[in-house]
Amino acid sequence: MTVPEEGIVAHLPKNLSFDEAAGMCDGGITSLNFLVNLGKIKAGQKVLINGASGSLGTAAVQIAKHFGAEVTAVCSTKNINMVQELGADHVIDYTKEDFTQNTNTYDLIYDTVGTRSMKECCKSLTENGIYASPVLGMPLLGDMMLSSIFSSKKAKFSATGALPKKETKRLMGLLLEIIEAGNIKGVLDRSYPLEQLAEAHTYVGQGHKKGNVVLKPVG
Ligand SMILES: NC(=O)c1ccc[n+]([C@@H]2O[C@H](COP(=O)([O-])OP(=O)(O)OC[C@H]3O[C@@H](n4cnc5c(N)ncnc54)[C@H](OP(=O)(O)O)[C@@H]3O)[C@@H](O)[C@H]2O)c1
Repeated sequence: MTVPEEGIVAHLPKNLSFDEAAGMCDGGITSLNFLVNLGKIKAGQKVLINGASGSLGTAAVQIAKHFGAEVTAVCSTKNINMVQELGADHVIDYTKEDFTQNTNTYDLIYDTVGTRSMKECCKSLTENGIYASPVLGMPLLGDMMLSSIFSSKKAKFSATGALPKKETKRLMGLLLEIIEAGNIKGVLDRSYPLEQLAEAHTYVGQGHKKGNVVLKPVG
């Protein structure tokens, strides 16, 4: 594969393997876009990450900590230790507790898996809080339109892959700085050779991967 010199490419940081870098180009860049561009993340803010154990979630926990946020991670029992190791300050096990039913509030709720909605999360947002999700559906579209006019709390979405090239390059540069500072590491679940593409899709489609699944075109 050839890529133009001015394309969206960067040198592989010394502290990252090729497999980790592959995952980082999805979860890392997407979560950086959501936390920085949509969530306007700042030190001291309270951020809740729903789906903290996926590709976007594992990157988001670490990126939010890098920016000095107080991070609450929502995952299932088997992933509690992992998200704590990634830096989460608080963990909520979604199989045992519904975070929308307690009195805690957050400046940003980043619903990486889109299993909740703005309506469900509204009470859990601070006065000017943001609900952001990368999973687009009619309810989120409606909530984005309504909240942009009628509420101080906002619902947001972005298609990271459709960002202008210049912005994607900027995000990649920012991500490299975080990687080189040692503040984010890739989480790899498993890798498949290209011939097992179907098996890889079947596994990912079950919706329970930890971090990233990588396809290896060669060897
Ligand atoms: N808009 C964009 O720019 C953009 C970019 C990239 C990806 N995406 C989308 O973002 C979504 C997330 O992708 P992903 O690769 O990070 O993850 P994923 O494969 O969709 O999700 C896997 C993780 O979600 C957790 N999970 C499943 N049900 C949950 C629930 N009810 N509550 C909390 N966590 C739950 C699973 O943990 P358990 O096994 O413990 O359940 C697993 O670790 C996908 O829909 C993808 O298409 C959007």
